Amino acid sequence: MTAPATLAEVLTVEHRAIDEGIEKFVAASPGGSVQEWAAPLVDSMDALRRHIYLEEELVFPQLRTGPLMMPIMVMLTEHGEMWRRMAALDAKLASDGVDQEPHRSEAVAACREMLELLDSHNGKEEPIIYPHLDSDMDDDSQAFLRDFLTDGTTPDGWECERAAAR
Ligand SMILES: [Fe+2]
Ligand SMILES: [Fe+2]
Repeated sequence: MTAPATLAEVLTVEHRAIDEGIEKFVAASPGGSVQEWAAPLVDSMDALRRHIYLEEELVFPQLRTGPLMMPIMVMLTEHGEMWRRMAALDAKLASDGVDQEPHRSEAVAACREMLELLDSHNGKEEPIIYPHLDSDMDDDSQAFLRDFLTDGTTPDGWECERAAAR
């Protein structure tokens, strides 16, 4: 029997799945409806908002005292940057002619930047923060997080701590 996935593994898999949706949008060839074209990006942004929610509300409060305080501050700042970029992408997707040039290329370019930001963020979060998930979070918090990962949703209107530019 294989051991159940650790929380670090589950959250790392979410990183990859979010990347894949954005990459799919970037690689898509023209054609089809806007809705169809944008679906992988919209799904990834929903998943990323939920991922940021669970990190900021269910994970970081457990770890932010002690040696991880500074790295978590960096994570929060980067989440804020992602949050604003997602809002800008939402606005772009909702505008007329987003699948026509030059809007289409602009949306794709914004997604490439988002992928770079995610790569840099996840490249720190996975080695620095995630090893602590399974060792330093208390049992109740781990159980709560596992339940949330199964069917939890981002509360309506929730915004990440640093959503506003400063
Ligand atoms: Fe994060
Ligand atoms: Fe993450």
